[in-house]
Amino acid sequence: MRKKIVVGNWKMNKTLDEGQLLADEIIKAFSVQTADHVLKIIAPPFILLASVADKLKSLSGFETAAQNCHHISSGAYTGEVSAAMVASTGTNYVIIGHSERRLYFGENNNLLAQKVNTALANKLTPIFCIGENLTERNANQHLEVIMKQLKEALFHLPSADFSKIIIAYEPVWAIGTGVTASIHQAQGMHNYIRSEINKKYGIEISSAVSILYGGSCNAKNAKELFACMDVDGGLIGGASLSAVDFTAVVNSVAE
Ligand code: 13P
Repeated sequence: MRKKIVVGNWKMNKTLDEGQLLADEIIKAFSVQTADHVLKIIAPPFILLASVADKLKSLSGFETAAQNCHHISSGAYTGEVSAAMVASTGTNYVIIGHSERRLYFGENNNLLAQKVNTALANKLTPIFCIGENLTERNANQHLEVIMKQLKEALFHLPSADFSKIIIAYEPVWAIGTGVTASIHQAQGMHNYIRSEINKKYGIEISSAVSILYGGSCNAKNAKELFACMDVDGGLIGGASLSAVDFTAVVNSVAE
């Protein structure tokens, strides 16, 4: 059975105090109901990563993720954070290729492929984001765009490495907009992604890869999205900034 996963991406939110408070609230909420069938991953900003990782150590079924890492192992790259540094906090996951990194920081598939390699070399599991923007969706180019992202950033990996990847489908037009992909759109795209992985890596790997949905997913709509056959959980932005909402989203994953 595929792993069910909910990731809370805090993005550039929460100061040190605020982030620690949110982590404490999450710990409190999950000390009474564990939702053991779901892997819960918190992705705070770098500055909070070590302390949140430390706090969550006591809680079963929780992990942390970085929101990014540099594509080179170490060196004179002022302001950057390496995969090894992320791993040294006790963090096992890293989000790579988020559309905000692609859009605001010019990260392209070629660079993202290098980040994936560096993450894997440092034993971090990439949570790799793909998604089309509204213009591409309206032009009916979404399948093509997704295929290109998969091909250029991930399909160079040998099977043993690809099988470690978590994929997050985040249509850019659904991120932070309050507009969620319909059940039909989400299931259609997740099924397409899985079928392309099947063509490249075979049924064993394609049926085991977790494909998460992201984009205005919240306590109200998570249940029906997560009920889709090929949706294995979510990558949650806004709704992960409240312990109550995050808990409700996690509990929307069917047992
Ligand atoms: P929202 O849930 O705020 O739309 O953000 C989704 C996202 O980008 C998670 O990475």
